[in-house]
Amino acid sequence: MNDSDADRRRSRAAALPLRGDRLRGRTALVAGGGGGPDPDFLGTGAATALLFAAQGATVGVMDVSAERAEWTCALIGRQGGRALPLVADVTSEEEVERAARSLVAEAGRLDVLVNNTGITGGAVDAPDTREWDRVVEVNLRGTMLTCRAALPHLRASGGGSIVNVSSAAAVRAFGSGAYGASKAGVIALTADLAYAWGRFGIRVNCLVPGHLHTPIGDRGGDEARETRRKANLLQVEGCAWDIAWAALFLAGDESGWITAATLPVDAGSTAATVLGMLPLM
Ligand SMILES: NC(=O)c1ccc[n+]([C@@H]2O[C@H](COP(=O)([O-])OP(=O)(O)OC[C@H]3O[C@@H](n4cnc5c(N)ncnc54)[C@H](O)[C@@H]3O)[C@@H](O)[C@H]2O)c1
Repeated sequence: MNDSDADRRRSRAAALPLRGDRLRGRTALVAGGGGGPDPDFLGTGAATALLFAAQGATVGVMDVSAERAEWTCALIGRQGGRALPLVADVTSEEEVERAARSLVAEAGRLDVLVNNTGITGGAVDAPDTREWDRVVEVNLRGTMLTCRAALPHLRASGGGSIVNVSSAAAVRAFGSGAYGASKAGVIALTADLAYAWGRFGIRVNCLVPGHLHTPIGDRGGDEARETRRKANLLQVEGCAWDIAWAALFLAGDESGWITAATLPVDAGSTAATVLGMLPLM
């Protein structure tokens, strides 16, 4: 990373004041909220956890990696927020339920769940289907399991908000195999849960991020970043904070009459056709 990259990211993050009280008194569980090692270059889970804590929430940072969960919690702690690391693999019903229970035991309630966990891969023409199965298991079944674990607690709190994280690969051909298929399932699951749980005051919505610059997706170097930047209608590269702010909107009271929605966070890239974009690039 060179200085101008860091400056650009800092200026985006700093452009909006993180601190506020939009989630004051609330408890949020962020699945896949681990991060590290660079506090100036966060993934979407860590940025969401940090923003929610800065907005007054107690945040359960759940991750399969204890190190990554603790890293995010330490960062939140340094900024004066309250966070609890929770180690769980989203594909384990038992681990996820235990994590949700221990957060509620510590914080007294649960109001928000963000399903940020996601892994890529699962080509149809791979030598066997094990990777396909794992990607679907983490992205789709894992999202279902965290919802399943959280729903009784959200209901006990008198309602709440679930924010699922899908991908542009769910709605546009991308050659992503099981990734896109599982993320399309997340959109369908979102509507289905919104249907079933709306009468209990539980809203369920879904973010559909476009190509972002995050540590896990940081491939292809400067040239790839420049292409990503130009391939959307704003000609601005997306980063983790763009997802965090959208998640905050869907988590908080400002979106109180929005449920079963899929919100693209992609600077318009999925609204345009490839041929339409070419003259702009
Ligand atoms: N980065 C992008 O360009 C992009 C684009 C579209 C959608 N998304 C989606 O956004 C989300 C976050 O992406 P990111 O690249 O910012 O990642 P991130 O930095 O937020 O990290 C995701 C976290 O999930 C954790 N995790 C992985 N498998 C797990 C499991 N089985 N159980 C529990 N935790 C697990 C990882 O340890 C990691 O800490 C994902 O759902 C991804 O599919 C990302």
